[in-house]
Amino acid sequence: MSDTIVVAFSNQKGGVGKSTLTVLLASYLYYEKGIKVAIMDCDSPQHSLVGERNRELKTVSETEHLAQMAHELLTQTGLQPYAIMKIPLEETMFRIRQYLSGDNDTQVLFLDLPGTMNNPNVLQIISNCDYVFCPMAACKYDIESTLGYCQFIHDRLMTMGYGNLKGVKILWNKVDARERTDLYNAYDEFMESIGLEAMKTTIPASVRFKKELSCNPKHQIFRSTVFPPSSAIVKGSGIDELAEEFLKLTGVRNG
Ligand SMILES: Nc1ncnc2c1ncn2[C@@H]1O[C@H](COP(=O)(O)OP(=O)(O)OP(=O)(O)O)[C@@H](O)[C@H]1O
Ligand SMILES: [Mg+2]
Repeated sequence: MSDTIVVAFSNQKGGVGKSTLTVLLASYLYYEKGIKVAIMDCDSPQHSLVGERNRELKTVSETEHLAQMAHELLTQTGLQPYAIMKIPLEETMFRIRQYLSGDNDTQVLFLDLPGTMNNPNVLQIISNCDYVFCPMAACKYDIESTLGYCQFIHDRLMTMGYGNLKGVKILWNKVDARERTDLYNAYDEFMESIGLEAMKTTIPASVRFKKELSCNPKHQIFRSTVFPPSSAIVKGSGIDELAEEFLKLTGVRNG
């Protein structure tokens, strides 16, 4: 049996940043903090993270300076890119159990799930996670549906003690710095009144989240499954703070 914790970014709405935050947090924890991670990409049939990893490996193999960087990363740290597994959604429960009962040194297993609840597998999978983070953008309809979704998971799955859930947290994503923080604070207060909590870290809206690894040497690396994000661009992205808050919440430690 392993000590792996299972974590998912989840929301019944699509496009809220589940896959983006999964990659960014997994890579930051692995390449910067030395935490052993793996991702199960359960978002069938598109499996966007498996696709992203394959595109990156191709870009690295075809780009001299990136191939050199990959070589240096490997020789300096001994770190091969972490595993991203392609898992059909309907097999996910079985594959998680198999993974956890097998021999592995993974500390955090991330699940990338589809943006839909119209599938009984998803709720079962979520109740078997240790922690669930619900990304939420500051748009009225998103807020209402995300709060409803989170409250359901919190009240029905966590509080009733089904499965493994130890924490359900909202995570503000795509935050516009021009919007008033007292608006967010008011929502945070409301959430607390219904027993929900948001992560203290908020993730700003920024184009850097959209850009995959590029062969252009002038482009800084941020979102990547094979390299750590460059420190200059991490600053102000919220990812470093998210990682620290995540480690504190879960108690996961390097080594
Ligand atoms: N903080 C952010 N700032 C700007 N763009 C962002 C941010 N977070 C995510 N995005 C963008 O939002 C889009 C949707 O993100 P992503 O694919 O991660 O969402 P998802 O919840 O996984 O969607 P799906 O339900 O389709 O799987 C992407 O183009 C992504 O780059
Ligand atoms: Mg996704």
